[in-house]
Amino acid sequence: MSIKSICCIGAGYVGGPTCAVIAYKCHDIKVTIVDLNQARIDAWNSDKLPIYEPGLEEVVMARRGKNLFFTTDVDKGIQEADLIFVSVNTPTKKSGLGAGMAADLAYIEAATRRIAQVSTSSKIVVEKSTVPCRTAQSMRTILDANCTANIRFDILSNPEFLAEGTAIKDLMNPDRVLIGALQTPEGIKAQNALVSVYNHWVPIDRCITTNLWSSELSKLAANAMLAQRISSINALSAICEATGADVDEVAYACGRDSRLGSKFLKASVGFGGSCFQKDILNLVYLSTQLNLPEVAAYWKQVVDMNEYQKKRFVQRIISTLFNTITNKKIAVLGFAFKKDTGDTRESAAITLIKDFIQEHARVAIYDPKVEHEQIMMDLTEPGVLDNRKQVEQHVQICGSAMEAADGADALIICTEWDEFKDTNLDYSQIYEKMHKPAFLFDGRLILDAPKLRGMGFKVQVIGKTELAGTA
Ligand code: NAD
Ligand code: UDX
Repeated sequence: MSIKSICCIGAGYVGGPTCAVIAYKCHDIKVTIVDLNQARIDAWNSDKLPIYEPGLEEVVMARRGKNLFFTTDVDKGIQEADLIFVSVNTPTKKSGLGAGMAADLAYIEAATRRIAQVSTSSKIVVEKSTVPCRTAQSMRTILDANCTANIRFDILSNPEFLAEGTAIKDLMNPDRVLIGALQTPEGIKAQNALVSVYNHWVPIDRCITTNLWSSELSKLAANAMLAQRISSINALSAICEATGADVDEVAYACGRDSRLGSKFLKASVGFGGSCFQKDILNLVYLSTQLNLPEVAAYWKQVVDMNEYQKKRFVQRIISTLFNTITNKKIAVLGFAFKKDTGDTRESAAITLIKDFIQEHARVAIYDPKVEHEQIMMDLTEPGVLDNRKQVEQHVQICGSAMEAADGADALIICTEWDEFKDTNLDYSQIYEKMHKPAFLFDGRLILDAPKLRGMGFKVQVIGKTELAGTA
């Protein structure tokens, strides 16, 4: 079977870039990305796309209106498609059974029911969202029970491994594409149809085909293992600070072992993003449901260590600032959860700033890509600081690093944006503008600490001590 028309339900961080790249690479396929959110679709159809990703604009502008379309007409998109990606959000449940752990599958279910209700021809339905293992089974049951015409649905699992900030690069040249299917003749036929779509640009040996459940579980497993590496190096960073070992040196020495590899060993103020915490908690919940409490406890520790890392950093800042930050001005550089994205979901900066405000500090925030209103929304979310007045009283959102640093007692690097490196930012001018002693906390290990100490800064770096290397 050859795919001529694809619909993607969900025009978010995954659906948008993923299907834009499919349209870019497969001119013979019509790709329609649908969403219920009118504002988001309008932005995809405008000059200012709703998400920032290096290279995304070029890809969208090259194919929009040719074989790439964005619309809120979900039903038409479904009806016209041979293959449908379900790429809706699967956040952690906020209430009810499994609250704070389980994935909320309400959006997956709504999209699946819609496919069943409006389809007038057979479809391949592809789980693109990250879901708990065996979700495809529930989708199948919903589709079979609700379809109105005498048509067939084949379900595939095709989890997405892109990372934000490098989404286009990752999609253009993926390490692998994973496609799971029921191992029946029809399932394998559908699997092959999706392989042929990717085969327009992804070599066949990078397309891994597995059974459905392996594919679903592999996505949770990959994210859990990646986050585990970060929690491992962050746990070691605490030992480094207590002993004089240097976490960068430890990471380098370990990473040179080809069995370990060097990637994902950068100590930090803690991982953020919409995936790691959510997907690990999802795995923890799954393990608990399967009556595997030891397995659940093992993975839960990765998230606990991440929380500890953020708390530890805040404590180090407060104790360095003579045990009080009341009324002091703290400049926070970076609000996004990593560089090269405007996404702030689960960003470590949110937790840090919440703690600073609760200690009655004044916080000046600068991020090159995060909008003013987004910062206010994140800080006033229920569970963060639901009091908008309190946030407005304590927070100043700035247009540059220099403005944030003006009169500050401490400068905190929360996101590793290139513009914050000491090769790009004029730290001698920053030093002039700050209160003395001028404290500088590097939560991302991007600064040349000895050089900045030479300028007069009191510098503290995660996983390092000033006296590292001395007897
Ligand atoms: P997102 O919130 O940015 O986008 C989801 C979109 O789906 C929203 O625009 C929403 O309006 C839309 N939507 C929800 N229900 C709908 C419905 N019934 N009909 C039409 N549209 C609907 O989420 P995201 O970051 O793109 O993530 C989507 C999925 O991909 C999640 O399961 C996530 O875990 C997974 N994932 C995300 C990333 C990432 O880097 N963000 C990477 C890999 C996998
Ligand atoms: C992650 C996975 O990498 C990706 O494969 C999956 O599809 C979605 O989840 P993402 O969250 O977009 O991608 O970014 P990632 O680069 O993984 O970074 C996640 C967080 O970990 C960021 O806050 C980042 O700063 C932090 N991180 C990453 C570290 O602290 N140290 C590292 O060595 C790597």
